[in-house]
Amino acid sequence: MGDPNIEDVSCVGVGKPVYVWHRRYEGIPTNIVFRDVRVLNEFILKLAHRAGKHISLAYPTLDTMLPEKHRLAATFGSEVSTTGPTFTIRKFRAKPFSPIELIADGVISEDLAAYIWFMLDHLKTLMISGGTGAGKTTLLNALSLFIRPGLKIVTVEDTPELNLPHENWVQLTVRPVYAVGVTLTEVKLFDLVKLALRYRPDYLIVGEIRGEEAFVLFQAMATGHGGLSTIHAESLDYAIKRIISPPMNIAPTYVKLMNIFLHIDRVAMEGVGRTVRRVRIVQEIEDYEKYRVISTWNPETDEHIVTLNNSWLLRDVSAKTGKSIGELVEEIYRRSMILRWLRMKGVYDFMEVSRYIFRYHYNPTELYNEALSELKGLK
Ligand SMILES: Nc1ncnc2c1ncn2[C@@H]1O[C@H](COP(=O)(O)OP(=O)(O)O)[C@@H](O)[C@H]1O
Ligand SMILES: [Mg+2]
Repeated sequence: MGDPNIEDVSCVGVGKPVYVWHRRYEGIPTNIVFRDVRVLNEFILKLAHRAGKHISLAYPTLDTMLPEKHRLAATFGSEVSTTGPTFTIRKFRAKPFSPIELIADGVISEDLAAYIWFMLDHLKTLMISGGTGAGKTTLLNALSLFIRPGLKIVTVEDTPELNLPHENWVQLTVRPVYAVGVTLTEVKLFDLVKLALRYRPDYLIVGEIRGEEAFVLFQAMATGHGGLSTIHAESLDYAIKRIISPPMNIAPTYVKLMNIFLHIDRVAMEGVGRTVRRVRIVQEIEDYEKYRVISTWNPETDEHIVTLNNSWLLRDVSAKTGKSIGELVEEIYRRSMILRWLRMKGVYDFMEVSRYIFRYHYNPTELYNEALSELKGLK
């Protein structure tokens, strides 16, 4: 559990090795094998008790959080699982990934990150779609670092996964962990999102939308709040189909309130011999069924191709600020250069990265000049 490269630990039953998922080596068996059902059941009971929960033949499944914030899913006895008791621990990463780490990893590019940074400064909204474990929450957390310092952020989640450097941040979760002085067990996501609006957030971040809480989120965006979220979907089309169908029921004319969609996937890279995560496509929603492609990923060259010319939002920002498109594009490239500088300097730590982002907000020229002169030395 101490190795940060290990993402999860799982046991599918007695007589089989406990597996770990390693960032580089993927699924690998360990030399730990539970041979006795009673011992495994007892171990699962112990885990459940550490989480302050109950598991038994009468209540044989559990999905909860351990005190260290690791996510625990388990089955007891052989009531629901044919191979007997099982468990999976998805490890909580105490330090979230920073945008610089995701750039260095190739998940996003500098230009793409700079575009998002710029758009979040102009209070644009975005949604990340992808399959389970694609890295949606991780990407959402990393991109949230670009939200201007001082803005009020309220996050709403089922389990507390998000971790932001902003001081003006309230974290609401369905499970009672940080929940601002009150116990919020058995409160639904829907109620929490409604509650979050009472805080008048500049940005409302919903960890993942699944049901009727989506309606509240879109309502919030319709009244001028910024919104960020993730959705489980295999493509943009599926994501939008889910949004406009029950139980979310968003009116098609409302879909464009979500300005930007990013789709993230796990892809097998033959060259690297392992699966990697990549933002495959980024689209702006000009209107329902009217999408503009901002970035695509080329699997052959492993490059992100960003086409700011297609941007509809840049035109919108230009109209609102009186600045020309050219000036705005230049601003995005300046930010892209700052990100390249941080990557080349090896500034990866999320707190450190956010300090630079905050500094850029307060004095862009100073930081840009510092980057420019240092980059000359680094080349
Ligand atoms: N770019 C990445 N590099 C390495 N590990 C990652 C990356 N993105 C996500 N992970 C890890 O993969 C697991 C699933 O990621 P998560 O963001 O929770 O996925 P999702 O929200 O799509 O289900 C987590 O353990 C996370 O730390
Ligand atoms: Mg998630």
